[in-house]
Amino acid sequence: MSTPSISSDSSSSRPQSDLQRHLDQVHSIISGGSRVTDIMQEICAYLHAHIGHYDWVGFYLDDPEKRGHLKLGPYVGAPTDHVSIPYGKGICGQVAVSLETFISQDVHAEDNYIACSIEVQSEIVVPILKDGRFVGQLDIDSNTKSGIRDEDQQLLEGICAKLSQLF
Ligand code: SME
Repeated sequence: MSTPSISSDSSSSRPQSDLQRHLDQVHSIISGGSRVTDIMQEICAYLHAHIGHYDWVGFYLDDPEKRGHLKLGPYVGAPTDHVSIPYGKGICGQVAVSLETFISQDVHAEDNYIACSIEVQSEIVVPILKDGRFVGQLDIDSNTKSGIRDEDQQLLEGICAKLSQLF
């Protein structure tokens, strides 16, 4: 008897979960040999296009020219005014300090949150650590309340772990 997966591809002899399929696709983008900025842009485009509840997908990176600040990197979604965020401020700034994934299922309930769009309901931010040092983060906004699932955390942490090799 086969083990049920999140979703199986009937054309394949080996059922594969959506999570594994997305991870494999992003790993092949990362291994493709492009410049890291282009790779991040491609990852944003892939995740935004293939995961319905990801409404804004972007990277914030440690700003080498502005100590203790995040600088907006590649993203896909509505333009944001928040191109520079101090460490500690908002969900993104908190992750730059805690170095741990932050999930908010209801951003309106957060007391340290920076709104990019009134439509956003939930958010996940995953740090990218290179040898334990913070280099940046992957930020996903969802217009769905309670939209962030365990699989999202697994997928995005897997992507950030792989991506950290390029920094
Ligand atoms: N909501 C984030 C700000 C970045 S935007 O979502 C693009 C925060 O609270 O830090």
